[in-house]
Amino acid sequence: MCGITGYIGYRKAYPIIIQGLQRLEYRGYDSAGIVLYDGKDINLSKTKGKVSDLQAKIKNDISVKGNIGFGHTRWATHGVPNHINSHPHLSQSKNLVIVHNGIIENYDTLKKELVSRGYHFHSDTDTEVLINLIEEIKTQEKCKLGKAVQLALNQVIGAYAILVFDKKKPDELIVAKLGSPIAMGIGKNNKEFFIASDATPFIEYTKDAIYLEDGEMAIVKLDREIRIYKINDDQLVKDPKIEQLELSLEQIEKGGFDHFMLKEIYEQPNAIIDTYRGRLLPDESIIKMSGIDDNIERFLNAKRIIIVACGTSWHAGLVAEYLFEDIARIPVEVEYGSEFRYRNPIITENDIVIAISQSGETADTLAAVKLAKSQGAFVYGVCNVVGSSIAREVHAGTYTHAGPEIGVASTKAFTTQITVLALLALKLGKKKGHISAPNFQVYLQELIQIPKKIKLLLEKDEHIKKIAAIYKEVPNFLYLGRGYNFPVALEGALKLKEISYIHAEGYPAAEMKHGPIALIDDNMPVVVIATRQGHYEKVVSNIQEIKSRHGKIIGIVSEGDSVVKGIADHIIEVPETLEAFTPLLTTIPLQLLSYHIAVMRDCNVDQPRNLAKAVTVE
Ligand code: F6R
Repeated sequence: MCGITGYIGYRKAYPIIIQGLQRLEYRGYDSAGIVLYDGKDINLSKTKGKVSDLQAKIKNDISVKGNIGFGHTRWATHGVPNHINSHPHLSQSKNLVIVHNGIIENYDTLKKELVSRGYHFHSDTDTEVLINLIEEIKTQEKCKLGKAVQLALNQVIGAYAILVFDKKKPDELIVAKLGSPIAMGIGKNNKEFFIASDATPFIEYTKDAIYLEDGEMAIVKLDREIRIYKINDDQLVKDPKIEQLELSLEQIEKGGFDHFMLKEIYEQPNAIIDTYRGRLLPDESIIKMSGIDDNIERFLNAKRIIIVACGTSWHAGLVAEYLFEDIARIPVEVEYGSEFRYRNPIITENDIVIAISQSGETADTLAAVKLAKSQGAFVYGVCNVVGSSIAREVHAGTYTHAGPEIGVASTKAFTTQITVLALLALKLGKKKGHISAPNFQVYLQELIQIPKKIKLLLEKDEHIKKIAAIYKEVPNFLYLGRGYNFPVALEGALKLKEISYIHAEGYPAAEMKHGPIALIDDNMPVVVIATRQGHYEKVVSNIQEIKSRHGKIIGIVSEGDSVVKGIADHIIEVPETLEAFTPLLTTIPLQLLSYHIAVMRDCNVDQPRNLAKAVTVE
């Protein structure tokens, strides 16, 4: 799970590659490297650390001349993050160079074979094995680079997106993909080409892009064309689809905010409007979702919905469990992609599997999708990134249209996923006759109010910041919620731990007395979601239990609440809404609380340690 980007054309490659790597740092940032071809030599520089560390190193390291090159920002899989294991990697002859995103599972066997043929390895990476395998095949078969890459990839088990360059053939780059994404931007009149793990590195240069499919390899020729072949049988892919990118530059910049995470928290009102625009039509009292409309019989006959996802998307799946069972009366199971794929699940043709993924690239979720498909289930995707691997793999789906999410901690992805899932549950609930027409209208009218209510909540930012200042040094936090807000408690805890490195746990409020209550003392802040809708009195009793053990209560309560106000140390009021939509509001203060605590602890909010935005390895 790394970011790769390359350029071949008439401009200076260095600034394009560095800027591209900065945009891809969300994919990994423990080391970075670049290779440039200056017309004579390969100039390579790499380092442990971020792209900014690479820039600093390059100054005294290499010439940055040249119109061809590529770079890599890494999230380590094989070998610790250090200078040697960073990409790019050279072949033994130093003529070939590669960057790679993915994992070569049979690298050890291949390495032993290469060692027996006299190859020496400098790094612990699977990637150095691959470039030497390509070199060995090229030497033995006396073939062109493209052919050697193809033959080598046919020996490889695993996942990859690679970019390869041969100093002896300096007018072309070879690109190949299996399992890890890669996009290629086409400059005007084919005078230049851009290659990257996603399209963000080249959006200001071109809107025309080709996404390689799994099992494809492209030969990108300077001044000429991109030719795509199937890796397994050499077949030319005729008329590859050129997609028009809809991304804009502003969408991927910080727009005056200190961090992407904060920008994305503040984008939620508009992101939710973008999610329901054209779908939620209150005047006609309908919800239009072509992915459902085109497959309505499958949905109406579904005996069960299985939701597969990871991390925050899994939390959105838990909210959906409440939505589907409550509103559409369809039984739901929510599974981690990583568990589902390995536990021989029972899947039938009457099951609908819904895969939720912001990036659309999460390896475990993707594998769960493939497994469900192979066993006959109808698979529906809820993704944000258009054209992503999961979006392409599913039978049908709905995009969240949240816009690019760059902060590693998911925020607007979560609320827009819940919005799509709520629309889906409401649509099915209505079709199945579980919601009356007037009640359906009430839901639609209320969903339309949510963005305004989030805006009101965002005005409480300063108040939340003050609470953050009080608790920024504590070692532990607890988050409690019930019903629809139990998944919000899990999400609040995840947000805090991933960006501030404070240990935090989420629990269903009533589970406290079965163990975690032993943790309560006067140094334990407990965030309790206690909105008026949904088990209010019971949660108030749970709050009393914590208070009597001297825990510090931060209550997330409905506007005008006086009961919790009387007990809690702090309260954050959220506007009233229907119980089913409370997660869309209660989540917001928890995102802000984590954000401010992390900033006050001087943590790197947008790029927390050990994490990456898209987890494309299992
Ligand atoms: C947490 C977070 C992760 C992701 C998880 C799934 O803030 O971002 O837990 O939610 O890695 O990613 P997607 O949704 O891209 O499949």
